[in-house]
Amino acid sequence: MNTRPIIALDFPNKRQLEGFLTHFPSEESLFVKVGMELFYEEGPAIVRWLKGLGHDVFLDLKLYDIPNTVEMAMRRLAALGVDLTCVHAAGGVQMMEAALNGLKEGTSKGKKRPLLLAITQLTSTSEKQMQVDQLIPVTLEESVIHYAKCAAKAGLDGVVSSAWEASQIKESTHPEFVSLTPGIRPTGSEIGDQKRVVTPGKAREMGANFIVVGRPITKSETPYESYLQIKKEWNGEGND
Ligand code: C5P
Repeated sequence: MNTRPIIALDFPNKRQLEGFLTHFPSEESLFVKVGMELFYEEGPAIVRWLKGLGHDVFLDLKLYDIPNTVEMAMRRLAALGVDLTCVHAAGGVQMMEAALNGLKEGTSKGKKRPLLLAITQLTSTSEKQMQVDQLIPVTLEESVIHYAKCAAKAGLDGVVSSAWEASQIKESTHPEFVSLTPGIRPTGSEIGDQKRVVTPGKAREMGANFIVVGRPITKSETPYESYLQIKKEWNGEGND
């Protein structure tokens, strides 16, 4: 289990991100998630900048393309020095194998290969949408487990999933298969647009290895205090 909650840096530009980071002591090494919004505005430089500040970076670009294209893109992301990244499992086992290969090839000698996770079904997809839009005639849960198995078969490190599915995913794959779970809300906070939320402590009990937390920290009046409280709950030290 990673002891630091991953902070989702859902900001439109570096200026706003800099403002947010002033709330944290400069020596505090964070694990942060950079998504499409910030990456497409600021480019790879934002990752180099965050790494230069001593933070670990999950680059959340959810790649999905033909295997060769994904492999070449992953080489670039490994060379950029990201610590964790992800692809859509719907791209297939061959595409996921190619992605992993690209990361291995792009990692410089002596450095650690970035972790690679798969997105199963997006949490915004309902069972009905999946059945109608994707013409997948099984339950959402069956589809999530199937995609997790495909990701394990391709040699990936784990999946992004709801905490509710973490233990079943481990049972269907292997105990070291990682679950990274968003949809985390500390006790007594705003839920926002997330649906099946769990507290940091509950996520740990349910078998999550990483948690991603955005708004409860980024929109807090006191982001550092909120971060420390969530970290405490996540590590089983709070009153969660
Ligand atoms: O603000 P909040 O804590 O809801 O942010 C959660 C983060 O995790 C956002 O960046 C969101 O895009 C991301 N995410 C998610 N559900 C997924 C995958 C990613 O909420 N299934």
